Amino acid sequence: MEYVEFYNGNRMPIVGLGTFRVENDEQAKEAVQVAIENGYRSIDTAMIYGNEEKVGEGIKAGLESTGLKRSDLFITSKLWLEDYGRENVAEAYQTSLNKLDLDYLDLYLMHWPGMDEDVMIETWKGMEDLLKDNKVKNIGVSNFKSHHFEALLSHASIKPVIDQVEFHPYLIQEDLRTYLNAQRIQMESWSPLMNAQILDDEVVKSIAEEVGKSPAQVIIRWNIQHDVVVIPKSVTPSRIKENLEVFDFELSDSQMTQLDNLNEDKRVGPDPDNYSGHHK
Ligand SMILES: NC(=O)c1ccc[n+]([C@@H]2O[C@H](COP(=O)([O-])OP(=O)(O)OC[C@H]3O[C@@H](n4cnc5c(N)ncnc54)[C@H](OP(=O)(O)O)[C@@H]3O)[C@@H](O)[C@H]2O)c1
Repeated sequence: MEYVEFYNGNRMPIVGLGTFRVENDEQAKEAVQVAIENGYRSIDTAMIYGNEEKVGEGIKAGLESTGLKRSDLFITSKLWLEDYGRENVAEAYQTSLNKLDLDYLDLYLMHWPGMDEDVMIETWKGMEDLLKDNKVKNIGVSNFKSHHFEALLSHASIKPVIDQVEFHPYLIQEDLRTYLNAQRIQMESWSPLMNAQILDDEVVKSIAEEVGKSPAQVIIRWNIQHDVVVIPKSVTPSRIKENLEVFDFELSDSQMTQLDNLNEDKRVGPDPDNYSGHHK
């Protein structure tokens, strides 16, 4: 496994398992367990996914069958918009911990910026409180654009370590990546496979043939070579394995450029500027 290092010196695995749209049932538990058994060290969930209990059971089962320690893993969950407000953060965090049956998270994210800048800033102060109280290892955000950071950073005493945003070859987020690099805020991609849609792209398929890998592996590798943390979701054991077999090949500069050139600024998820949380 390869790791990225945050500006605060802490590390995070560059590939992890996503769990959005995974029901809170045995499938969630098994996917997480299979992932840990096959070398994953990072799991991404969120309160709003409704699956923290079964994800937690999968973590426990994975630790038992591998003999790993909790500290070998990197677990992320996210604060939902309904729990925004400085005074609500600690309780929401504790609720997620209880569901996951964990003592701490490695990373807690504000899930979206929301539509109210003051609430966003106050909520971040609640996130800072958690870190100052040593309840969480790292705090970050999700779906923030550079203008959200501009508003936040003038009031923040602790900078987010990471921004988890939609990122794939149809949405290459060049300006945001430049901004985050300059700020030393790590970028993390969600829906890296464009919810499987990108796997049918002809350019992606032809590069996959050239390198003798699957389209999904090509896209995950493209994320890694852009220094972006990537969390492909799968509940299929063979795919969970496949998605981690991405450290034994490299894309050439020309293959990277061909993928970058697919950009259409096309989203599969909501635009953060007008998302108030009415659907996930
Ligand atoms: N912060 C946010 O607002 C936000 C928003 C969306 C997602 N996320 C996070 O990002 C994670 C990933 O995004 P996502 O779940 O939207 O979509 P994704 O990872 O882009 O795509 C998942 C889909 O691709 C399929 N798949 C996975 N590996 C494959 C492979 N090797 N070959 C063929 N098909 C494959 C999966 O099928 P099977 O599962 O059936 O195998 C599933 O249908 C989420 O799970 C979540 O943790 C965060």
